[in-house]
Amino acid sequence: MESQKTLARDEKTNKKVKYEFPKDFWWGSASSAPQMEGASREDGKGMSIWDYWYEKEPERFFNGIGPDIATDFYHRYKEDVRMMKEIGHNSFRTSISWSRLIPNGVGKINSKAVDFYNDMIDELIANGIEPFINLFHFDMPLELQKIGGWENREVVDAYVEYAKTCFELFGDKVKIWFTYNEPIVPAEAGYLYGVHYPNIVDFKRAIQVAYNTIVAQAKAIKVFKELQIKNGKIGVILNLSPVYPRSNHPADVKAAKIADLFFNRSFLDPSVKGKFPRELVDLLREYNLLPYTEEEDKELIRDNKVDILGVNYYQPKRVKAKEHLPNPYSPIMPEWFFDYYEMPGRRMNIYRGWEIYEKGIYDLLKRLKDEYGNITCFVSENGMGVQDEERFLQNGIIQDDYRIEFIKGHLKWIHKAIMEGCNVKGYHLWTFIDNWSWTNAYKNRYGFISLDLKTRNRTMKKSAYWMKEVSKNNGFND
Ligand code: NOJ
Repeated sequence: MESQKTLARDEKTNKKVKYEFPKDFWWGSASSAPQMEGASREDGKGMSIWDYWYEKEPERFFNGIGPDIATDFYHRYKEDVRMMKEIGHNSFRTSISWSRLIPNGVGKINSKAVDFYNDMIDELIANGIEPFINLFHFDMPLELQKIGGWENREVVDAYVEYAKTCFELFGDKVKIWFTYNEPIVPAEAGYLYGVHYPNIVDFKRAIQVAYNTIVAQAKAIKVFKELQIKNGKIGVILNLSPVYPRSNHPADVKAAKIADLFFNRSFLDPSVKGKFPRELVDLLREYNLLPYTEEEDKELIRDNKVDILGVNYYQPKRVKAKEHLPNPYSPIMPEWFFDYYEMPGRRMNIYRGWEIYEKGIYDLLKRLKDEYGNITCFVSENGMGVQDEERFLQNGIIQDDYRIEFIKGHLKWIHKAIMEGCNVKGYHLWTFIDNWSWTNAYKNRYGFISLDLKTRNRTMKKSAYWMKEVSKNNGFND
């Protein structure tokens, strides 16, 4: 294995490594409560929509595996934190499970959950790992879904109350908070594509869900500021994709612009600029899709922007115009104005089927610099899913050289963006340990650490050893 331990500094540049990252760069990884914790019926946890959906329709989940045990982080977090430290993490993102903390979504707080989160956060801090805490990662408490989930304004208020509870309970030790991970996903996946509960297909309702989450975010940020969390920052984690038109044909260029409005700017603009893009509002109006709003929302959104942005990047969107005029009544968004397509000759992750395009992260970061005030940001997810990863096992270690190449390729472009003035503070891999991934369960493995599903034993992959050197040297050579 390549070791950079003994590298001498270059006399001219005083650099130890070719790609050296700024001091205090955040090296780490990300996960979430529902994908890691398990213990889904223990110590007073209430049900989330995932616990419920799995109980009701286990056949929807790959190999029939649900979130009940996950990686068993609830019981094994100390072991995991030790491994995070071992591989050089100085930061780690996970979420709080709303239904563990407040089993019915509103009302009584579960003291066992408070103990768990306090202990877990303390353990991270004691090991020199900054906890990045996210409030919501697709896991609506079932009791709140029963009254309409994000479509209902009462749930907006319940979320704000939940956020306040978290800030009050853990705000003395957690400095970096996030309102959501990929808030567009519950709207798309739950109300358009039928891959998340409540499994509805209705464009207008999806828009309402998305809108209400933005209002809830603004309200939660307002509370955060009022509480004056010491040195605290609050942000949002968005899945952003650079959108490239298939050709210079005006129809394709227009289609790409629309895709960008829906998939990037719908959350990016209100979160960072405090307002929705005019073009998006016009489009929604034209098709009678505007959501229900309240008088005060506009001001709230304007006055409560995020301090920091997490960028989840996996692959770009390549867009072509639909050949036929859109059907304004079609409920499915991608059937609307644009299509994705696979561009011949593009490099693919052959183990999972996504395009690999490292420069995409650079394009995104440059855009944040040029068009979004160079907001403080970090790469909050990036990673490579691999099916049947056991086939790469040799001498007890998964030889995931493809993952090392993948990370390296992206880090080089991130480094370039930083050299060109982008305000990028860190890089988190998705994910720390192979975790449970919604209806895909464990189909695609993403972790630095491999998980034995029978024993829940953890083993470092080759990429974990590599990352250990990278974080130690704060960079790498080619
Ligand atoms: C994004 C999500 O945040 C996470 O929950 C998911 O498992 C990964 N991407 C991998 O698809």
